[in-house]
Amino acid sequence: MPTDLHLDGQTRVLHFFAPGRVNLIGDHTDYNGGLVFPAALTMGTYLTVTERFDHFSCGFESDDTPDTFTLGSEQLAQRQHAWVDYPLGVLKEFSDRGWNLLGYDFHYHGDLPIGAALSSSASIEMVTAVALNTLCGEPFTQLELVQMAQHAENAFVGMNCGIMDQFASGFGKKDHAIALDCNTLEYEWVPLEMSGLKFVIANTNKPRELVDSAYNRRRAECNEALEILRRYVSVENLCQLTVPQFEKLSRNLSGNVLRRARHAVSEHARVREAVTALKAGDMARFGQLMNASHASLRDDYAVTCPELDFLVAAAQQHPGVLGSRMTGAGFGGCTVTLIAEERVGEFIRTLGDAYTQRFGHNADFYVAEIGDGAQ
Ligand code: GLA
Repeated sequence: MPTDLHLDGQTRVLHFFAPGRVNLIGDHTDYNGGLVFPAALTMGTYLTVTERFDHFSCGFESDDTPDTFTLGSEQLAQRQHAWVDYPLGVLKEFSDRGWNLLGYDFHYHGDLPIGAALSSSASIEMVTAVALNTLCGEPFTQLELVQMAQHAENAFVGMNCGIMDQFASGFGKKDHAIALDCNTLEYEWVPLEMSGLKFVIANTNKPRELVDSAYNRRRAECNEALEILRRYVSVENLCQLTVPQFEKLSRNLSGNVLRRARHAVSEHARVREAVTALKAGDMARFGQLMNASHASLRDDYAVTCPELDFLVAAAQQHPGVLGSRMTGAGFGGCTVTLIAEERVGEFIRTLGDAYTQRFGHNADFYVAEIGDGAQ
């Protein structure tokens, strides 16, 4: 619950938090109706909401950028082509449902690396959604807020993302990963019993340009594959196909469309197996599946880059590592590595040095701490 302070007996100040996420396995499956396995981080976005003196506008500022905005009711519905589009998209979701919120200042600050595939955008959307819901007297469920945040990103920001990031930010649970079926939205919290292992995140610090258009193109290629395959089999999405079913049908596809669909189907199968492995405490198998996931994202989905491939290859050769892969959309951003705890320090030093030598800039490393969802 937010802390509700009354300053001078008049101005209300409310505090909210929504986490980023690390996806352990299952990338580019969410919009194909498949399984994903993310976990919410303890890093995320904090939001302080204060009542304004005027009740005709809203103010937006962030510690991470000098761009501040004061917007009246008409401007609130327009894209500003800036970071503020994430909160504005969410405000629009509320106003489309009859809740017009004016007269607040929104102050954001965060400790997630921005645009690094740890869902900084989803955490801004979710922290805004939870805040607005509180201001309105909580008319919406957490799942509705997740869906509104995803729709804000699709319809307002123009990034055709799936539901994984907003869901992970909304439904995170301390020391658990979320096995989410993106077709039915059924989910299960799976305890991360790590027995001497850690997940280490490595940020390539590679500026991610044109990610949205490349991402939307992958999504379109999957839709094209689905349309073709539906001439031969009755499915609603690619991840309803098993690997053997897909192999039989795959002669009807070719080129990139074949490769994209093959990744989606095989990745979905890997997530299913990874969840079973984790529950059985078979971390060695979990690590192998992470490695296979990276290979598929590199070779079939073509969303890795030299920086990600370098960090993953170096990790996979490092003593104590069980598995390593890119996480999130790709094209830059982060890797996640499953490693023996006592090797973490030396791992970070060795990979850090090798990375700087190869690319001329530093990578950042975080030992993942898994926390609760937006509140
Ligand atoms: C981004 C999107 C998600 C998901 C991942 C890839 O993070 O926002 O919906 O598609 O990429 O798994």
